Amino acid sequence: MKKEQRKRIIDKHRDSLTRHGHHPNALYWSSREIQEIRFRVLAEIGIKSGDSVLDVGCGFGDFKSWFEADGKTLGFTGVDISPDLIGEAERLHPDATLLCGELSDFDFEPAAFDWVILSGAMNEQLFDDGAYARRQIALMYDLCRKGTAFNMLDARHLKAHDLQRTDPHRMLEFCNTLCVDCQLHDDYLKNDFTIYMPR
Ligand SMILES: C[S@@+](CC[C@H](N)C(=O)[O-])C[C@H]1O[C@@H](n2cnc3c(N)ncnc32)[C@H](O)[C@@H]1O
Repeated sequence: MKKEQRKRIIDKHRDSLTRHGHHPNALYWSSREIQEIRFRVLAEIGIKSGDSVLDVGCGFGDFKSWFEADGKTLGFTGVDISPDLIGEAERLHPDATLLCGELSDFDFEPAAFDWVILSGAMNEQLFDDGAYARRQIALMYDLCRKGTAFNMLDARHLKAHDLQRTDPHRMLEFCNTLCVDCQLHDDYLKNDFTIYMPR
């Protein structure tokens, strides 16, 4: 990602954190319910208590809180480009590993995590026809032992030009070049789709 794109994302979240504090609105989710619907669909790839998860663009680490709410546990590693959100995540989750940066900034071993997930962290318009997202997905898949699941904004329904919108079938075609059994889910929110890439 270009330096100025990275700065724009960091500044945007610094401002939203000042305005909203620890709330889904600070992450540009319209509500907690909408955030958690995405979490549920990601978790349904098969994440179980005791598994290790790398969450790319983890924000406050809310996926961990949501998953563990009924007594389950996760070995949780989160990376996020925003130092402000990672700071809050560290305060909320002293038992997690939280790292500030893009995924490509870190040197994780291949297959270091059971699952690699991403929710909402490929929604920024980068004007690159999805090249950054495709590189990121390939990197995520390389780091998982059990599977990767991610969501994106659906270009068939969402018209906002200031956000990165993706054709789900085009993305599925790309994912199928990395993984034989990819699955597309587009029946849970109008503007969103999720792809599962199991091992
Ligand atoms: C819509 S928020 C979602 C946060 C979290 N996944 C959740 O659902 O609660 C998107 C997050 O991705 C982060 N982000 C955006 N682009 C990123 C990138 N290329 N690498 C790492 N984090 C990124 C933002 O800082 C922000 O915290």
